[in-house]
Amino acid sequence: MEHHHEKGQWGSSFGFLMAAIGSAVGLGNLWGFPYKMGMNGGFAFLLLYLILVVFVGYVICLGELSLGRHFGKGVVGAYESLSKKYAFIGWFGWISPLLIIGFYCMLGGYCLKYAFANLGDFFGAGFGVGGQDSAAFFQSFYTDQLSSSVYTILFVLLTVLIVRGGVSSGIERFTKVAMPALFVSLVIVIIRSVTLPGAGAGLEFIFKPNWEVFQGPGFINVLAAAGGQMFFSLSLGMGITVTYGSYMKKDANLERSALIIPFADTVIAIMASLAIMPAVFATGQEPTQGPGLLFITLQSVFSAMGKFGPIFGFIFYMLVFIAAITSSIALLEAICSTVMDKRAEKGKPMNRKAVVNLIGLIVCLEGVFVALDGLGENGFPHIFGLSTWLDTFDLISEGILMPLGACYMAIILPTELVDKEVTLNNNKFRTQKFFDFCIKFCAPLLMVLVLLGQIDSFFGLKIFS
Ligand code: PHE
Repeated sequence: MEHHHEKGQWGSSFGFLMAAIGSAVGLGNLWGFPYKMGMNGGFAFLLLYLILVVFVGYVICLGELSLGRHFGKGVVGAYESLSKKYAFIGWFGWISPLLIIGFYCMLGGYCLKYAFANLGDFFGAGFGVGGQDSAAFFQSFYTDQLSSSVYTILFVLLTVLIVRGGVSSGIERFTKVAMPALFVSLVIVIIRSVTLPGAGAGLEFIFKPNWEVFQGPGFINVLAAAGGQMFFSLSLGMGITVTYGSYMKKDANLERSALIIPFADTVIAIMASLAIMPAVFATGQEPTQGPGLLFITLQSVFSAMGKFGPIFGFIFYMLVFIAAITSSIALLEAICSTVMDKRAEKGKPMNRKAVVNLIGLIVCLEGVFVALDGLGENGFPHIFGLSTWLDTFDLISEGILMPLGACYMAIILPTELVDKEVTLNNNKFRTQKFFDFCIKFCAPLLMVLVLLGQIDSFFGLKIFS
């Protein structure tokens, strides 16, 4: 029996694209991309990133969509159907989202908190930043175990509510409205940012060729940062794209989708940099602060903007919240999809709502655990010499399981399967030669480099610098 129809299907190709772009566009674009660009030399990072998207991102995306649609199953089922011996790749792709979703929901909760705080500032109410130093404000929030847990739980609940609604009447219905709203908000913030006096230095940082960074962190490390970022940002190598592909109709055009999704994701990442870098430079700050960029540097930009600053702050953090929730929806759906497959295999009813509730509860516990850790400042024990649990979950998933899973996938995926899926319904496979070449050579090679670079920089081994 084909049970994927029972799990759901996308209602329209626009709806699918909004959901898939929503999955791809997230904190990775609005936060990770600009801050990694800031730490890795601006233009040099951008260029490597673009090369990686074309030669690796596009082909892996097409491969995963094909795999998903071909077998009509979640990630574990899809790899198992390919061959029992590949099941472990599927499990890698199942565990990664499970590790990511906890801290992801915590960060999404932070965005909610910041949206409210900016509203509070605008109305002069007691719950705003209220002239505090933004670093102190941030620290007092994330070390406050109660309120960071509450915002995390709120975010998980919202995610659960949408995913319970199902593929087309939950996920698609939400993302069809949310993604255009995100786009419009981003344009508003960009206009404000690039018209600030002194914004030009930010634009220069992004677009003016500059290779200094290759002497600093070194080429392989910049490449690894760009590669890891690309995987995370495109939601690749972790079962999401396989899962979303499995809900595609047989007449949908896979090749076109695999072009549009990475393209849109990259455009939004660059737009996010346009919203952020000019504002940061205009207020005399540096974008090299790393993770502090979103919650410290930017908040100080909004606080310094005068009367309407908090309104832009509110719009900005709401848009980051939307980006985050359309991604956490994808993470949750990917996890649940496999659980539903397993139930169906045992002849049980899939029971979407119950599965989503149960996984949602686990996600809550995980998110609260990361929130209680207070970015490592609440005295929790840590492992691997890392300083926060967020980094630990991130290292295992983004740093290891994802590039490893994607590398295996690129090697074992039969190109005939992709060819067959893409050309269904008389569609042409225009990029076939490019695809076959990249999936067999570029992708595995780059993945190995990314993996080495990630391990090197996470553990501070300094092999490459
Ligand atoms: N791609 C999302 C981002 O850029 C994150 C994400 C990862 C979403 C994995 C779903 C799955 O933030």
